This record gives sequence, structure tokens and C-alpha cells, in this order.
Amino acid sequence: MKLSVSTTERLQGSRVLTTNRHLIRWVEKMADLCRPDAIHWVDGSQDEYDFLCDRLVAAGTFTRLNQELWPGCYYARSAPSDVARVEDRTFICSLSKDGAGPTNNWEDPFVMRRRLKQLFKGCMRGRTMYVLPFSMGPIGSAMSGIGVELTDSPYVVVNMRIMARIGAPVFAEIDKDEKRVVPCVHSVGMPLKPGETDVPWPCNDTKYIVHFPETREIWSYGSGYGGNALLSKKCFALRIASNIARDEGWMAEHMLILGVEDPTGQKTYVAAAFPSACGKTNFAMLIPPKSMPGWKVWTVGDDIAWIRPDANGNLRAINPEAGFFGVAPGTGVKTNPTAMETLSRNSIFTNVALTPDGGVWWEGMTDKPPTECLDWHGEPWTPAIGKQTGRTAAHANGRFTSPASQCATMDPAWESPDGVPISAIIFGGRRSTTLPLVYQAFNWSSGVYIGATMGSETTAAATGAVGKVRRDPMAMLPFCGYHMGDYIRHWLKMQRGLAMTPRVFHVNWFRKDANGKFLWPGFSENMRVLKWIVERVQGHGRGKETAIGWVPRHDDLDWSGLDFPSETFDQLMEVDRAAWKQEVIAHEGLFIELHDHLPPEMIYERELLICRL
Ligand code: GTP
Ligand code: SPV
Ligand code: MN
Repeated sequence: MKLSVSTTERLQGSRVLTTNRHLIRWVEKMADLCRPDAIHWVDGSQDEYDFLCDRLVAAGTFTRLNQELWPGCYYARSAPSDVARVEDRTFICSLSKDGAGPTNNWEDPFVMRRRLKQLFKGCMRGRTMYVLPFSMGPIGSAMSGIGVELTDSPYVVVNMRIMARIGAPVFAEIDKDEKRVVPCVHSVGMPLKPGETDVPWPCNDTKYIVHFPETREIWSYGSGYGGNALLSKKCFALRIASNIARDEGWMAEHMLILGVEDPTGQKTYVAAAFPSACGKTNFAMLIPPKSMPGWKVWTVGDDIAWIRPDANGNLRAINPEAGFFGVAPGTGVKTNPTAMETLSRNSIFTNVALTPDGGVWWEGMTDKPPTECLDWHGEPWTPAIGKQTGRTAAHANGRFTSPASQCATMDPAWESPDGVPISAIIFGGRRSTTLPLVYQAFNWSSGVYIGATMGSETTAAATGAVGKVRRDPMAMLPFCGYHMGDYIRHWLKMQRGLAMTPRVFHVNWFRKDANGKFLWPGFSENMRVLKWIVERVQGHGRGKETAIGWVPRHDDLDWSGLDFPSETFDQLMEVDRAAWKQEVIAHEGLFIELHDHLPPEMIYERELLICRL
């Protein structure tokens, strides 16, 4: 049966919301393959959102939270096997294996297409296929990009309404001049037989997160969670966009963007790349300590930055997203009151704990856990059970989905179509040893070296072992859609078009003492480091040269209101030569892997570093 437009209309009573012939033809083709019972063209309205949330409640996917305590909020539990990004099931299917490079999984695109066609054949039976258009970046901005996700998951649709600009205005933009869109197909991979009842979290043990860089296509199968399923985020805005950016001379990065207002009212914007679950959301919403009056941090974005040089050779960045998909555990009134306020309404919580009063809780939200609750599996949990079994109430990668517009610290320019000017780039990882609190690169190429050789302990944001140091260039290891060596070369090349290169820094909030305790209080106190960074950018911050870069001496940081012993500071800032020799040897591991694509500058930078050490 060929599904004509009129058939699709009849199926749902949902109107076709575009006149773009290519788009309509593609939707028909995909419907023919996936065989959904109905097609729903997503207009993005509040009515539609409420309708879908009601549907999700009826299906048991959502629990409506106590509306007095948590207005407009819903709660979801995923299947226990579907809780994080699956890096081992993520593929970059470029025409040549060399194009994807050694750090990405690759499969011949023709072979992969055949396999996907098999998997997707009839995969949406018994379900509705949603046609979900989204704009990454403000609709109509020259810096934005458009995608259309076909998905059989209403959970994805409602999350995407928070995370991106979606619906009728995006269709209008597509129709304006037959704009090129990135086609994204997503299925949870669980067709229903006639009369078969659904489960609250449909998914499939077979998972494929597939990118075709040359044709700018995304196919995702088997997962309903986060970056596996919200295809606007890591799949489009990083993996596909990094390919587009390389071709067009800009950058798609796993970075937060924030603006620092100093007491004179001057604003300095910085972008920071930290790997998953390493502090981007928290840093982007930083509240300076009371003892630093006149300083304020404004949020532009918390996860992704699209950065390009303007006509004057200055780097400008937009946050392509419209919401936060934030790590819940560790987010509390003490550490991130801004996030707590943001997520207090119109939010979706996934894989956290449900309290008896119809609210949510997770480790770190409050000092005192609730006396009882249902954990992320739906099992009874008490602090005593937690202690006995070692089980947490929330999954370590439990998340909140909240609109950025509700965040009190959003920068007035966060939706500016021209973005904000970037004066500094900060790299950072989760390192319990070796890496000092902060240091500044000598220049752009040494800064690129610092980013390229960044290491971080793995977290629960991806499936697999947690706490192992791995090289994660620019926090993009899981997100770069092409050869990592070429990506590093692209970074070096970016300098040529710039009138002024941003200053480059590296931070580490996570260094520990011999007893495994964090040496640095972090969160608000990170403002002291940020202030030094801004002063260095402005040209009046002082520091001292070390083998690895410029560092602040104790006196160069603002310590007002914080009693931080200078011996602890020395420990935190120590550049231990023996440890650094090991570190440089670890850099070589990555370089050997990338060798035939590695820009020579990286070899020279490494030699210089070895000489200085
Ligand atoms: P993704 O959304 O996965 O990309 O993560 P993210 O980089 O935005 O990380 P996020 O800010 O959500 O923080 C992840 C975890 O690190 C949370 O449990 C935080 O409490 C913790 N964290 C963030 N900042 C700091 C800090 O300055 N010090 C310490 N010790 N922990 C921090
Ligand atoms: C990350 O893992 O870096 C995230 C969460 O931001 S996800 O959207 O699942 O990729
Ligand atoms: Mn992220």
C-alpha cells in the first residue's frame, strides 16, 4: 500500500503542515517502510503537548507529579537497559572508513543502509509516526540549522518541545525557500501486534545510532533515552554539524557558553568544553559567592555551542538548543539553586526517585533523603535500604528536561541571531590527580594541544565502565562525526580567519587528596578561577609561567570570604614532573592512533612540552 498525502491526513486527522515536496515524499517513503498506524504532523502547540502528555500518562510512561508542588511536571522511568548513550552502538558511516577515523565505529554505508532497512521494516506497526521539525538556533538565524525527526516515541516529541524550537514556525521556515533539512529517523524498535498492549518504556536490546555524514542523515533504532533518541542534540548538533562545520569553516562543539559581568559592567563571554557529566550545566549557571559583589554570570547555553567567525574575524557563538537535559544527581539548592528554580515547573524527570507526596528526589537534591520513596526502578527505597544494598534512589544518569526560558540567569542575548562574542575557551576534565585547578595555554596552538590531549574519568552519561581516564579531545570523542586527526587540524586552521584568537585555559574542579576528598570546593567558588580567566583575557590578570602554561599564584586569585589554606592551594596547583611525564606518555597513545591524520603542530607542541618538563 502506498501512503499518499491524503491517506496520511485521514489516518490521524492530522493536517500535513508543509508544502515542501521533498519532505512530503520522504515522509511517505519512510511511512511505507515503517508502517505506522497513523502519522501526526507536529505543530508544537501547548494543546498538542498536553494531549501527548495525557497519552503518556494513560500509557503508564508518565506519572503526573503533584501539581501544587511541581506544576506542569511529569515523571518517567526508562527500561533498566536503556539509561544512557550507547557509544559502542554509535556509528559514523562515511563513504570511507578513514573518513570516520579510528575513534569512531564505522560500517560501510551500503551495508548499514541494508541492515537499517531490514530493522525499520514495519518497526512502527501499532504506533503513530510523529513528523517533528526542529530548528537548532533561533528560527531564521543565519547561524541556525533545521532538521526533521520522524519518531514513534511521544516521549521524544514532548522532550524535544522543551529542548528545541519545534513545530509550525519551523515548517513555515522550511517552506520559505525549500530549505535543506537534516532527515532523522527514530524508532524505539518495538512494533505492536494488533491488540498487543504496550509497555511503559518500549525499546529494543538491539540498538543502532547511525550517522551518514555525506548525506547528512541520522537513523536511530532501539533506544528512547536522551542523546540516543533526541536526535537534535548529539546526533545533529554535534556529529552531523561537526561535518557541516568543517566544510563551511565553523565549529560545532560540546561546550557551554556563559557571559561574565564584572563590577564595571563589562561582559566577557567564554565557552567551555567539559566531557559528559563533568560540570557544564553547573558552570553555566554559576552564582558567584556573596563575598564577590558586582560579579555576575549569565547563561547562554549548557551543552552545545555553534561557533563561527563574523565578517570582522571575531568568533561568535550560539546555543542551538532551547532547553536543558541536565544530570539530576548532584543538582541541589546549595550547589545549583538556579537549576533547581528552573526545573521547578514545566519539566520532565527521567530515572530519578518518586516521593510519596508526588514529587521527585535524587541524591544531592537535599542533604537529608526522604524517609521513603520509589527508586528509579519503581522499587521501595529508604535510606536504610540504600545503605544496606548500596543502591541509589536515582540513576546516576537520571535527568531533568527544562525550558531555558525559565532559567533566571539566561543572558539577554541568548537568543540573538548573531550569537555572542567569544573571548576565551576553557577545557576541563574530571581528574583526581596530576591536572592543576587552572592553567592558561601559551598561545593558540599550545591551546589546541591542551584540548586535543585532554583526559577525563568516564561517567555514567554513557554505558560502560565509570571512572577510567580516557583521552577525550575537546570533550568531543563520542561526538565528532569525522576523523579526530582532521578535527584537530580544523581547530588549528580556524585561527587563520580570526582577527583575535580567544585565550585558552584548562580547569580541573575534581583533584583529590590522598583520602579521596575533593581538594577544591567547586560550584560557586569556581567564580574565583573564572575571575582570573577574565582578568587574563582583559590583559591585567597576573600569573607565573610553568612548564605546562601560565598559572595564578596564590595572591593572584580573589580569596575574599573564603578561608582556603595556601598549602591546600599548592597541592591543588602542583605540577608534578613525574606525574606529567606519565601524562605525556598517555598523550602519545592517542597520537599513535591518529598518526596519519595528526597535524605536525601537535608533535612539535608535545616535543616542546617534553623539553620544558
Ligand atoms: P552533560 O549534560 O552530561 O553534558 O553534563 P554536564 O557537563 O553538564 O555536567 P553537570 O553540570 O550536570 O555536572 C555533572 C555532575 O558533576 C553533577 O553531579 C554535579 O554535581 C557535579 N559537579 C559539577 N560541578 C562541580 C564542581 O565544581 N565540583 C564538584 N565536585 N562536582 C561538580
Ligand atoms: C551528554 O551525555 O553529554 C549529554 C546527555 O548531554 S545526552 O543528551 O544523553 O547526550
Ligand atoms: Mn553533554
